[in-house]
Amino acid sequence: MRFQGQRIVVIGGSSGIGFATAKAAAAEGASVVIASRSEERLQKAKALIEGNVEVLTVNVVDEGSVKAFFGKIGEFDHLTTPGNEAAMGRFLEMDTKTARAAFDSKFWGQYYAAKYGAPRLRSGGSITLFAGIWSQRPVPGGTVITAINSAIEGLGRALAMELAPIRVNTVSPGIVDTPIYSMMTPEAKVSMFKEAAASLPAKRIGKPEEIAKTVLYLMSNGYATGSTLYVDGGATLR
Ligand SMILES: NC(=O)c1ccc[n+]([C@@H]2O[C@H](COP(=O)([O-])OP(=O)(O)OC[C@H]3O[C@@H](n4cnc5c(N)ncnc54)[C@H](OP(=O)(O)O)[C@@H]3O)[C@@H](O)[C@H]2O)c1
Repeated sequence: MRFQGQRIVVIGGSSGIGFATAKAAAAEGASVVIASRSEERLQKAKALIEGNVEVLTVNVVDEGSVKAFFGKIGEFDHLTTPGNEAAMGRFLEMDTKTARAAFDSKFWGQYYAAKYGAPRLRSGGSITLFAGIWSQRPVPGGTVITAINSAIEGLGRALAMELAPIRVNTVSPGIVDTPIYSMMTPEAKVSMFKEAAASLPAKRIGKPEEIAKTVLYLMSNGYATGSTLYVDGGATLR
């Protein structure tokens, strides 16, 4: 019950890593606010989480929406921001509009959340941002995401200095089995996961609950700030 009496905001709490984080935080006594664009997805997620769960919509690409969101929720203890999306595409073929949209969501969405969330954090509060392992291990077709992830890791380090004593950390996951891959056919997904798993020291793909544990660790450890944690089955060693 590490989070008894605390309020935790999870942007992206309707799915994947965000959902697993909200569920794990609630199981440890937190009151959680889950947010994303779709009220329907949020209500479905809420029904699966035992404990005190508030639901609010927000669209992180829209600065006004993020500002209004934090205006509505008031004070809280910890914020995490896995709620965003970023398209893949080969550098020479991807149109610039798509690349900018990815930044709007994954970079600027987290920037706005930190900007409007930080003033409402109680003493001892923290922010946990989301990057991804491609910051360290780029792949063809992932150039824009690599650039965003690197920018987020830098943002996390800089905010740890500028917003202190608020603690700011970044989680950089490897491949984790979440609905983020729902655009792939089931066959393509199984084959991609199999190939990736074989190449990893862990010999398997990650689970959202394993990333959730990392987020809760960073929220609960009062000496962790400015860190980027790679939870990637050993992908950075390859
Ligand atoms: N899964 C992986 O393999 C992996 C690897 C590396 C990094 N990551 C990073 O980890 C984070 C979480 O990924 P995930 O796999 O858990 O993804 P996911 O299952 O697809 O969940 C994404 C969440 O973000 C919300 N969202 C998307 N766009 C939004 C917007 N504009 N405004 C507000 N909410 C928005 C979605 O809900 P709505 O649709 O209702 O808005 C959903 O709750 C992301 O930053 C991702 O880049 C994941």
